[in-house]
Amino acid sequence: MESRDIRQTFLDFFDQRGHVPLSSSSLVPANDPTLLFTNAGMAQFKDTFLGVEQRPYNRACTIQKCLRVSGKHNDLQSVGPSPRHHTFFEMLGNFSFGSYFKRETIRYAWELLTQVFLLPVERLWITVYIDDDEAERLWEETGVERRRILRFGEKENFWTMGDTGPCGPCSEIHYYLGSDVNAQRAEGINGVDDDYMEIWNLVFVQYNRDEQGGLTPVPSPSVDTGMGLERLACVLQGVKTTYETDLLRPVLQRVMELVSKDGDHYRRYRASYNTIADHSRAIAFLIADGVRPGNGWRDYVLRRIIRRAAYVGKTLGFERPFLASVAEAVIDTMEEWYPDLRIKREIISVVTTAEEERFNRTLTTGLRFLEVAINRMAQQNTAILPGREAFKLYDTYGFPLDLTQKILAERGLDVDVEEYEEGRREQQERSRIATHSKRGREKED
Ligand code: GLY
Repeated sequence: MESRDIRQTFLDFFDQRGHVPLSSSSLVPANDPTLLFTNAGMAQFKDTFLGVEQRPYNRACTIQKCLRVSGKHNDLQSVGPSPRHHTFFEMLGNFSFGSYFKRETIRYAWELLTQVFLLPVERLWITVYIDDDEAERLWEETGVERRRILRFGEKENFWTMGDTGPCGPCSEIHYYLGSDVNAQRAEGINGVDDDYMEIWNLVFVQYNRDEQGGLTPVPSPSVDTGMGLERLACVLQGVKTTYETDLLRPVLQRVMELVSKDGDHYRRYRASYNTIADHSRAIAFLIADGVRPGNGWRDYVLRRIIRRAAYVGKTLGFERPFLASVAEAVIDTMEEWYPDLRIKREIISVVTTAEEERFNRTLTTGLRFLEVAINRMAQQNTAILPGREAFKLYDTYGFPLDLTQKILAERGLDVDVEEYEEGRREQQERSRIATHSKRGREKED
């Protein structure tokens, strides 16, 4: 089943069950200073869950653009090696604002997966929060074998948007992707085996977490679910990784064309290709949502993503800016569902190339500087790059810290982050004093 049909089938299913299908909100959360970027479908409903905002409906469903690059939900480091993690992804979600709770949520999810998308029940596993007897019983009543329902603690089965906000125990649905159904083991769930993949998280919203970590009940128990479109597409399209789905394949194809390489090259440098494809999606959608590369809170995320992708491109052999061309493939693949991308095509290209050119001017010399530093580290028999060197890479060569960390990690090395932060604070102080005395001089003049 193609992604476009998966999106439509999901929305139609919940529409037929009284949910209002709504558009995705922007990646930049409206009026929420606690959240860097929209990281889940529930972000646009936060105030509704908390009872601060009333809506003329009590059920909704969305396909939400999400970005997970910081804080509680940060998948940036996993992108590349992981067969299924992304910075940007789409989340399919159904929401109840006090309308229904655990029973219907579980019933709907099971019906959609097994009777509409026809997933084989013998590959599905369920997890529930450690003390959630009710959820376990409801899954059993739905027809799930008891041995396939597992209990986990806070880390896996208590969902929070961020440090604060609506939260509650959750129940996840996992899928076994392996070739031998008889080889399934309960230990595979939430483990490191890529044959097992979480596909849907059903959150039973019961509390608001405050800044001190305290939990107060929300006005009415509610529901927030999130299923990764890329993961469901992976299952429904019979492939092993989300990068092989129709959402990402054309983007990877474009990268291969640009480096004039084929599938063998891809298989050899899979992590690099996947990083470029993933980051190009984040770049296109962030720019379309009005973010520009810069040094500010949100702007710096875009700068970091472009620079990471540019660096990875260099390791694949790109000498000149190429990301705009990859972003074009993202637009071609996604514009049918997100027409905004079509309108923003030109600006996405201009902004991406300008930032890439800016970075390319210092990338080669920065890498040379880092190489010298790494040789020195070898002579000194240390695996830690001094923070002042990482700071110089940032300040002089425009290397975001996480890029330096990534390059070092590829060789089993690390950075003295504390010393780096000290350098950054000192520089901020110097520029504060410089601005202050400049203002003073202007006044005297
Ligand atoms: N809000 C549910 C999830 O992101 O998993």
